[in-house]
Amino acid sequence: LDTVIAAFANRLRLAHHVAVLTGAGISAESGIPTFRDAQTGLWSHFDPEELASPAGFARNPTLVWRWYAERRVKACAAQPNPAHYALAKLDKHVPRLTLITQNIDGLHQRAGSRNVIELHGSLHRARCMADGSLHTTWDYAEELPHCPDCGALLRPDVVWFGEMLPQTALEKAWAATLDCDIFMSIGTSGVVEPAASLPRIALSRNATVLILNLEQQTAARPPLFTINGKAGEILPRIVKMAFPV
Ligand code: NAD
Ligand code: APR
Repeated sequence: LDTVIAAFANRLRLAHHVAVLTGAGISAESGIPTFRDAQTGLWSHFDPEELASPAGFARNPTLVWRWYAERRVKACAAQPNPAHYALAKLDKHVPRLTLITQNIDGLHQRAGSRNVIELHGSLHRARCMADGSLHTTWDYAEELPHCPDCGALLRPDVVWFGEMLPQTALEKAWAATLDCDIFMSIGTSGVVEPAASLPRIALSRNATVLILNLEQQTAARPPLFTINGKAGEILPRIVKMAFPV
C-alpha cells in the first residue's frame, strides 16, 4: 500500500489539472450511510422507486419529503471527515482542481472546497414545481413545503432515478475529465451512469487514474492506481506525501 501511495503521490505533485469524482463512500466516515452498502445502505431500507423517483414523488410527496428532510437533518448534523479536508487542502496545492460529486450532503463545501460540481443536486436546495426556481429555505404547510414566491409545491433539488442530470454540471464534469492529467475516483461504486464512465474516459486518454474504494484490489498498474481503503485514512496520506508542507 505504501509503495502505491508513494507512486501516485509522486504523480500528483506534478499535476497540472486534477479532476476528482466522489461518491457516497467519502461521506461514510462522517456517518452518512452509502447507497449500496448492504448493511447500512439507504436503499436497503427503502425501494428507490418509492422515494428517489418522479413517480414516487407524485404518488406520495409527503413520504418523499419526510425522507429527504430526515436526510437533510442528518447531513447538517454530520461533520466533514479528513477525506473532505484532504481534498480542500489539495485544491490549494495543485494549479487546478475540479471537484465533481455525486453526493448531495454538502460536506465538501463545509470542508472548504470551492466550486463543487453537484452532479445529483443537493439536499440543501428545493426547486419550485411551477417555475423551477431554487430555494434554500422553505416552510412546511400541511407537511409539504411550498414555494415562498408562488405557493406551488416544492420538490427536493435532487436528481432522481430516471431523471437527467443537470446539463451544465454534466458538461463541466465531462470537460474536466477530458482535460485533466490526473483523475481521482473516491468512494463510488461506479455502477450509476453517467458518473461511472468518467474514470474510464480519463483512462482512455492516458490520464493517471486513481480508484479508491472498499472493493478495489490495491495495485499500481500505471497509469491506473487502485487502492482498497478508507478515504478518511488514505486521502490525507496521499496529500501529505505529495505536499509535505
Ligand atoms: P441509472 O439507471 O444509471 O441509475 C440507476 C442506478 O441506480 C442503477 O445503475 C443502480 O446502480 C441504482 N439502483 C437502481 N435501483 C436500485 C436499487 N433498488 N438498489 C440500489 N441501487 C439501485 O440512471 P437513472 O436511474 O436514470 O438515475 C439518473 C441519475 O439519478 C443517476 O445519475 C443517479 O445517480 C441519480 N440518482 C440520485 C439520487 C440521489 O438521491 N442523489 C438517487 C437516485 C438516483
Ligand atoms: N472510503 C472509501 N470508499 C468507501 C468508504 C470509505 N470509508 N465507504 C464506502 N466506500 C465505497 C464503497 O466501497 C462503494 O464503492 O463507496 C462506494 C459507495 O457506493 P454507493 O453506495 O453505490 O454510492 P455511490 O457510488 O455514490 O452511488 C452513486 O447512485 O443512488 C445513486 O445518485 C445516487 O449518488 C448516488 C449514485
